[in-house]
Amino acid sequence: MKTVVISLGGSVLIPSLEKNKIKEYVPVLGEIAAHHRLFVVVGGGGEARRYIAVARKLGIDEGTSDEIGILITRLNANLLIAALGEMAYPKVAESHAEAKKFAESRKIVVMGGITPGQTTDAVAAVLAERVGASVFINVTSVDGIYSVDPKKNKKAQHYPTLTYEQLLQIAGGTALTAGSNTVLDIVAARVVERSHIPLVVLDGNNPENLSRAILTGKFTGTMVSGSKKKILPL
Ligand code: UTP
Repeated sequence: MKTVVISLGGSVLIPSLEKNKIKEYVPVLGEIAAHHRLFVVVGGGGEARRYIAVARKLGIDEGTSDEIGILITRLNANLLIAALGEMAYPKVAESHAEAKKFAESRKIVVMGGITPGQTTDAVAAVLAERVGASVFINVTSVDGIYSVDPKKNKKAQHYPTLTYEQLLQIAGGTALTAGSNTVLDIVAARVVERSHIPLVVLDGNNPENLSRAILTGKFTGTMVSGSKKKILPL
């Protein structure tokens, strides 16, 4: 049994409340948890962005807008926990220490955001550090890391593998305002680099991509590691 930390992007799980993929993710997370110790960090998705957009129009500062975003990530985390039922620890972990404690139950531990100035990717990266994860998987709405945003630029180059230094360079080129949507935030990239955490970025629009990646190693995405050894399957 290995430890897996998943950053489950809100843009994948809950792009909008009505278009959520929670029902599809429940069996997938259950299958992974049958084999491994599993932590899931849930993003804010479309609802967080809507709230943050309204906060900005009201002239509310970035830090307070972040706090509103965090509340939405925790609301999404609550929804996922309820849908997972007995498979999940029944409370959203509000700190990394709490997540570690909840994991003693051997159930799936779910978190949202914790502190302003970052995204749930950073929460997941530090969690991966603190629980000694064998792999940190960033589940997002694109199939890996590109030179530039592939949704905005057709000439974007896809990277199947990257070194930690290359990851830092790419993540460093993006802004970090409340609700900003990048493939991996700079805080997360720095944490991944400093602890050489094996990272996989993959497309979660089809939830089975995630379980297939972990259990069979077959997926399209980006792998970031310090060695030539394959990160997946576990
Ligand atoms: P995320 O950006 O992590 O959610 O958090 P997301 O929608 O899943 O992003 P994608 O879809 O993976 O790209 C939503 C917002 O909540 C605040 C930030 O403003 C962030 O943009 N937040 C979240 C924090 O301030 N701190 C946290 O620890 C987490």
